[in-house]
Amino acid sequence: IRTQVGIVGAGPAGLMLAHLLGRSGVETVVVDNRTRHDIETTIRAGILEHGSVRMLLDNDISDRVLTDGYEHEGIELRFDGQGHRIDFADLVGESVWLYPQTDVFIDLAAARERDGGDVRYGVTDTRVENVLDAPAIEFTDADGVDWRVECDYLVGADGSRSICRRELPESMRRSYFREYPFAWFGILCEAPPSAPELIYAKSPHGFALISQRTDTVQRMYFQCEKDVDVDSWSDEQIWDELQRRVDGDGFELKRGNVFEKTVLPFRSFVCEPLRHGRLFLAGDAGHTVPPTGAKGLNLALADVAILHRALADHYETGSTTGIDAYSDTALQRVWKAQHFSYWMTSMLHESPESNAFDRKRQLGELTSVVSSRAGSTWLAEAYTGWPQR
Ligand code: DHB
Repeated sequence: IRTQVGIVGAGPAGLMLAHLLGRSGVETVVVDNRTRHDIETTIRAGILEHGSVRMLLDNDISDRVLTDGYEHEGIELRFDGQGHRIDFADLVGESVWLYPQTDVFIDLAAARERDGGDVRYGVTDTRVENVLDAPAIEFTDADGVDWRVECDYLVGADGSRSICRRELPESMRRSYFREYPFAWFGILCEAPPSAPELIYAKSPHGFALISQRTDTVQRMYFQCEKDVDVDSWSDEQIWDELQRRVDGDGFELKRGNVFEKTVLPFRSFVCEPLRHGRLFLAGDAGHTVPPTGAKGLNLALADVAILHRALADHYETGSTTGIDAYSDTALQRVWKAQHFSYWMTSMLHESPESNAFDRKRQLGELTSVVSSRAGSTWLAEAYTGWPQR
């Protein structure tokens, strides 16, 4: 079959791009080796920048974020046993929304189905070829039928283990990496929220993040060793560990049954450029951020906003200005988000490599942020999201 834009990856980036292109009259075929159920049940981050929320609302996807999501006008930074609120509404007049990535996917998948979009979940043996002149995707669908999709352009929105990224020849690809000497232990639990807003806590025992999901389900994380065996931790050990990282001024976590435990990998990665011939990379296929600050999904959607405008403009006017600029334009935001995620991570975590000086310096850094309107404003601007261009 033939289409205009072939998209590998039906996560939020791939489906959002297909949806936006569909509204601009551009045809797409999206393939993913995961089933719809697999994607829907993979737990990811939960914070949407205001720009990501606008994308859902302004493009007739769903307004469920307004009813099922929660608007947050600030966060708490907690260190030395005390909380310090960063007031986004006051500092930058913006907010973020607690609305899990799985719900963004559910909304996009339903919108594609409603609009008759061609999305093939659960495919196998996906291959891409000829990205320089005549791109094609080959795969076997869930019923065992072989397909070949020929397209004008190919988009790799296929996550951190992207097969599309391999089509950038080694000779012209630059990869930038940073590993961290720790990971996150993530839990879901049945409990009421412990606080009105998210808490990012630094303690001598390491970092903890008290996040939320609903009135009855909460999401929390704590810094742990990379090779931790989550099943060897009892609920009580988990709660004691979380509690000692937020201790001080009498603050108590509301405990409950822990029904999900996972380790989150911690890595910074950028592939440059994000384009080769007729292939474009978007989202995790092109870059990965550590989870602190929840930039991954938001960055993927920002890539897609740029790529949509570039491709829609190309199909409408024949101009290649937008597609030629895609990689450079997207990478500007990518590197800002890389810096922010790295900065939040390094400011809040205990590194096995640090000494007493480093730990005191981190506290000086946190004090600088919370005691200065300029410092807090920068954090608020980055956290709520820079304007999409
Ligand atoms: C969540 C994850 C994050 O990495 C973050 O910075 C904030 C919230 C979450 O899953 O709720």
